Amino acid sequence: MIFNQRVVKPSESFSKQANLQKDNHSKLMNEADKSYENHWAKLAREHLSWKKPFTIPMTWNPPFVEWFADGELNISEQCLDKHLNTATAQKIALIWEGEPCEGHLPSERKTYTYAQLHAEVCAFAEGLKKQGVGRGDRVALYMPMIPEAVIAMLACARIGAPHTVVFGGFSAESLRDRILDAQAKCVITANAGFRRGKILPLKTAVDKAVSECPCVISVVVADRLGETQSSNYKVGEIPFTATQMHAGRDVWFNDICVNGSKLTAESLPAEHPLFILYTSGTTGKPKGVVHGTAGYALWTNLTCQWVFDIKPTDVYWCTADIGWVTGHSYVVYGPLSNGATVYMYEGAPDFPDYGRFWRTIEREKISIFYTAPTAIRAFMRQGDSWPQKSNLSSLRLLGSVGEPINPEAWEWYHSVIGQGACPIVDTWWQTETGGVMMSPLPGITALKPGSATRPLPGIAVEVVDDNGQAVAPGNRGKLVITKPWPSQLRTVHGDPERYAKTYWSTFAGPAGAHKEPYYFTGDGAFKDADGDIWVIGRVDDVINVAGHRIGTMEVESALVDHHCVAESAVVGVPDSVKGTAIYAFVTLKNEVKQSANWNDAKKHDLARELITHVGGIIGSFAKPDHIRFSDSLPKTRSGKIMRRLLRDVATGHESLGDTSTLEDVSVLANLRQSTDDE
Ligand code: PRX
Repeated sequence: MIFNQRVVKPSESFSKQANLQKDNHSKLMNEADKSYENHWAKLAREHLSWKKPFTIPMTWNPPFVEWFADGELNISEQCLDKHLNTATAQKIALIWEGEPCEGHLPSERKTYTYAQLHAEVCAFAEGLKKQGVGRGDRVALYMPMIPEAVIAMLACARIGAPHTVVFGGFSAESLRDRILDAQAKCVITANAGFRRGKILPLKTAVDKAVSECPCVISVVVADRLGETQSSNYKVGEIPFTATQMHAGRDVWFNDICVNGSKLTAESLPAEHPLFILYTSGTTGKPKGVVHGTAGYALWTNLTCQWVFDIKPTDVYWCTADIGWVTGHSYVVYGPLSNGATVYMYEGAPDFPDYGRFWRTIEREKISIFYTAPTAIRAFMRQGDSWPQKSNLSSLRLLGSVGEPINPEAWEWYHSVIGQGACPIVDTWWQTETGGVMMSPLPGITALKPGSATRPLPGIAVEVVDDNGQAVAPGNRGKLVITKPWPSQLRTVHGDPERYAKTYWSTFAGPAGAHKEPYYFTGDGAFKDADGDIWVIGRVDDVINVAGHRIGTMEVESALVDHHCVAESAVVGVPDSVKGTAIYAFVTLKNEVKQSANWNDAKKHDLARELITHVGGIIGSFAKPDHIRFSDSLPKTRSGKIMRRLLRDVATGHESLGDTSTLEDVSVLANLRQSTDDE
């Protein structure tokens, strides 16, 4: 196993001043080891404000778990009300910046103190209630990165309505499927958002989606364009036609706000579902990952303190979109529950140029910066001159998330962005884990470029073989979590069997190497001789494209939805910027291939059409990077597509491994002779 041996010693300034010090860390590790439930119960009593204290730390009926179940609280109080009678009330909670729009819109900047954010959340929460949305009702959000998105999430939490945020890059069809699966009663959107200088017509997509969703009774529209009197965004002339509001269904966000409201937060059981977040799995249908309230609140709060070392003076920037779990946990709930100042940017990192992020860090004096390896690699490619134009000395900690970070990108991030002085926390976690599971701790853990190092206190992680037996250092295995933890997903919405099967059946116990079932992450990993863990990537049919998790079957289903396609198989191939690129093999229906004038130009056009088609069905981020037409696909005698061989073909590997189970060997030879059609 080859990996980078470089070790960066823990930073001395952190060793003395970090929120979590070495002795405390050891104490926490010991406590978790000695008395797992008491360890968590103690933390939950210390770090959460309970409306009704709990008495039962954990109930574990594998694979279903409950934490602090007889207690009651509300996470919007942890994020807002808790700060009101303290100096934090007047501190800036949120700095928001909008993207400029092709010369039409200047950048906008708005700030909210904790007191103001509380007022906005109460006003909107009460407005939502008046719309007939109450405890237990699901609310879908399809929003740009604007303050209303944060306000809406916290307002939903306040009234006990689980939110399901759908990333604004998803298509109308993907949005519809998620709304229907969640049976959302209300959709919150905006008339538009801005990205790379373009207007994203979100409301138009909502109209399309909702026309097929009888469960939706109300659509709330935030005004990003200055269309309404009450809008805060007076942005002048922009090329956009007036938003169509459907009478009896659509209302403007600002119009329903009950200004001056002091709406008391619902007292919610600890296990009350806080949100559903759809994520890709190995089948075509995304799973609605359900998170509860208290365990999630606890872990997002603690990880912000321990991993990001958030302090009252920090200005913190996590570049994730709120449509992904990183945005939930580390733009909204974690940092706000710590009284941090959160910077939020609407647009793309490279617009209008590659200096945007660095100028922002200088201007806002960002001290903690958390982004994805794909962004780091994209910036690295543009050279050092962009970051060197800005003064980045305010930075004191850097984070990475979403995919393995290659050592070269790590080194660049460390030396050029962090100027050699900032620890990098390479945080490994998933939508399902709710918060960071493994990461170096600043000031405690020695950093190794490319390794997420160790699990955090209370988190039990192992690298095992197919029997659940820990593998020896240096050997590849599967990454599992061996004990339930407070912020774990509780179920798959509407499908507890899928929850049990997907996560808990691979290492079910009790026979063999382990008694309790292990949670299977879907990732492959190995431990090095020091016991540090290196995550290699997914071992299932999920691929991680630019940090976006995509099921290969989702893309295949979108391809075969096209009238020309008979069959398709999708694999991931290495990409120097995105980490993984989508490579699709497509067999066409006979009538297409036999049609008159079927030639290379037509093939090329069809390949482009298929790419656009996938974008339309799933969203632009899932568009295949390569399409190759082939007469047939390599299959086993039982009819299973041999993806391993396709990966070899796609990457041009000569050694094609064992092909003895292949039904028709000539298929491979043909494939290898063909070339990409896009
Ligand atoms: O493969 C792992 C990868 O991202 C997957 C989870 O994706 P998602 O649920 O979309 O959540 C992403 C943000 C938390 C994991 O199964 N992954 C995430 N972080 C890392 C990582 N791979 C390597 N190193 C990481 N730090």
